[in-house]
Amino acid sequence: MSPRAALRTSAPAKIILGGEHAVVYGVPALVLPLSGLRTEVSLRESNIPKLRILLGDLPNPSEAQMAFVSGACRTITAALGHGLPDATLEVRSSVPIASGLGSSASLCVALSRAFSRLHGTSMAPADIQRLANEAEQAAHGRASGVDTAAIAWGRPLRFVTGQPPEPFALAGPLTLVIAHSGEVGSTQAAVMDVALRRDSEPDLYGGYFAGIREAVDRMVQALQAGDPAALGAAMTDNQRWLQAIGVSTPMLDRLVRVATQAGAHGAKLTGGGWGGCAMALAPEDRAEAIGRAMIDAGAAWAQVTTVGASQP
Ligand code: MEV
Repeated sequence: MSPRAALRTSAPAKIILGGEHAVVYGVPALVLPLSGLRTEVSLRESNIPKLRILLGDLPNPSEAQMAFVSGACRTITAALGHGLPDATLEVRSSVPIASGLGSSASLCVALSRAFSRLHGTSMAPADIQRLANEAEQAAHGRASGVDTAAIAWGRPLRFVTGQPPEPFALAGPLTLVIAHSGEVGSTQAAVMDVALRRDSEPDLYGGYFAGIREAVDRMVQALQAGDPAALGAAMTDNQRWLQAIGVSTPMLDRLVRVATQAGAHGAKLTGGGWGGCAMALAPEDRAEAIGRAMIDAGAAWAQVTTVGASQP
């Protein structure tokens, strides 16, 4: 990096079509990058002997937010074999935090890209995935790695923990309505809670996870066949299993219900749950109306997004 030239990187958000939580226990998850929501990082060398961190969107960041960003920087630079650089790091993000859309993984991927470029290391998506995942794990404990995989690869993936991610093709674009419950989710707390309950009732939870596996397998078939009705039905079934394992909320259930009543093919929460976002798979000509119905039902916001057709 030439003195004071800013190095800029970015990373998208992600959305999980199916398999969250169960993915921690070996069930496949289907995950898509959301390129319309992004974390942007700029790194500029300075003469001040420290890493100065500015969270551009947050004039008064909390201690926990600052600790997460500085912890991620430390983990990533150490994994690259360096200390923190003398530089100013600015982070801006349009990915809502604690919403199930992968804000922390998006940040960790953007930081991994920035620090690897700073040190002249060219990294393939698999390396960025590994580096970002190390930072996520250090901050969040038990995680499957599904979020960092989708974001580092930037393409739809079928993901099984510990295995190389499998890109999959969308037969056609998917119209999704994403609506925020207005409740703050905590993936880490929800994952820990599921782990405790699964430890005390392994057979029951094994059955729930088998149900999610079956729903995800049907999603894969529906995606290959380009059958949105079947995809939506499998998503709604996945939601029932997520309710059973205790990660939905009355508001998320309500958003799912009104979305299907308003004509969605199917709907579910997405990500860690206990708040955050619900998503609906919508016929294109119903998407705006479904979003309005979700707002009327109490969503803090709703937005329509199209995830494009892609090649594996
Ligand atoms: C979070 O986006 C997905 C979870 O399955 C946690 C994880 O896989 O790390 C809830």
